[in-house]
Amino acid sequence: MVKPAVSISDLRERAKARLPKILFDWIDGGAGDERGLRENEQAFDAYRFLPRYMLDVSQRQQQQNLFGQIYASPFGIAPTGYAGLFRPGADLMLAAAAREARIPYIMSGTSTSSIEEAAAIAPENVWYQLYAAVDAGITRDLIARAARAGCQALVVTIDIPIAGKRERDLRNGFDFPLRISPGLIWDGFCHPGWTLDYLRTGGLPVMKNWAPYAPVGITPVQVAQFANSHSFAVQTWDHFKLFRDLWPRKLIVKGVMHPEDALMALRLGADGLYISNHGGRQYDRSVAPLAMVPMLRRAVGRDVPLMMDGGIRRGSDILTALCLGADFVFQGRPTLYGAAAQGLEGVNQAIGILRSELDNFMGQIGCLDLGRDKLPDFLVRIDAYGLLQSEA
Ligand SMILES: Cc1cc2nc3c(=O)[nH]c(=O)nc-3n(C[C@H](O)[C@H](O)[C@H](O)COP(=O)(O)O)c2cc1C
Repeated sequence: MVKPAVSISDLRERAKARLPKILFDWIDGGAGDERGLRENEQAFDAYRFLPRYMLDVSQRQQQQNLFGQIYASPFGIAPTGYAGLFRPGADLMLAAAAREARIPYIMSGTSTSSIEEAAAIAPENVWYQLYAAVDAGITRDLIARAARAGCQALVVTIDIPIAGKRERDLRNGFDFPLRISPGLIWDGFCHPGWTLDYLRTGGLPVMKNWAPYAPVGITPVQVAQFANSHSFAVQTWDHFKLFRDLWPRKLIVKGVMHPEDALMALRLGADGLYISNHGGRQYDRSVAPLAMVPMLRRAVGRDVPLMMDGGIRRGSDILTALCLGADFVFQGRPTLYGAAAQGLEGVNQAIGILRSELDNFMGQIGCLDLGRDKLPDFLVRIDAYGLLQSEA
């Protein structure tokens, strides 16, 4: 019996131990020198909290209302593609864990399980992230399927205008299909837990959302290539108008960084904005999403639901983002490390760690609930020496 992980970094180490390097690097890595990846996490270090004492903190509640739905915590699971490659059935584990924890789970547009399977497991919790197709017929069908399955929201990712330069993947030769080399075979041999699971479940899992549109009888690798080559090469706000026309429920734009893009999305009918730089995976001179929260909040006003992700590894990170003006946060790698390391149990642990850290932190600083008006008073900014810079 493996001891429960104490922190997200424990789960990361366990994922690293179980996965071949080529796969761990695909989850863990970022673009270029990975400056953006590091800064996503480091941005939280600029903040500290001033506690209020002599309050009765025995009752703390972290539930949060988003789009009229009450979630048990103010964080959810960001879309992460090919999760089933790291752990067979991982998408459905993420969905099941989200249902159990009463938080949202965004199924990736490059998941291996299907929208219908995820929505059947967690009808109240599944959102779908759209990677639209060059063929508008496929896009319409994906959106119709997500609506029929009962997905609560559609998330349109806008921050992949072209592919990023991920140097770990280039060095490791990560591609579909994986190029079989002596190095790859050795990598698999050194990580027998993952390799045996992979072989036992038939190798690369098929991308079930895309498979219906691909030629009949082709292999999972060919389906992945089909999805890749049939995904949008160019996506503009004109396409977004079509998504708005087709989607009947909440529509969210993911990857917003510039205030003008935020305003454009709202003008075209977005219901919520999701600040993100794709976890530092696209380009290496991005501003950390956390740093954009105050500016975007000012730009869009008080009432627009504002979400963010990037670098959330601690309960205190969640609270920092909320104090700066986010309504809700998402995290991608922590639950994926959990799935890769220990399957459903690992995902539950990742969620449990973030939730209990947030709860503990709220108790420590005298924050009884996430009522927006009181939150900014807890936060201060420090400089590189730890000296107080200003009130945040
Ligand atoms: C392995 C991996 C796969 C991802 N796949 C997708 C995806 O399919 N669609 C998407 O919108 N974002 C994708 N992302 C970005 C995440 O949704 C999210 O923005 C990012 O992971 C947040 O940063 P964090 O990992 O530090 O929490 C992926 C991220 C990772 C790490």
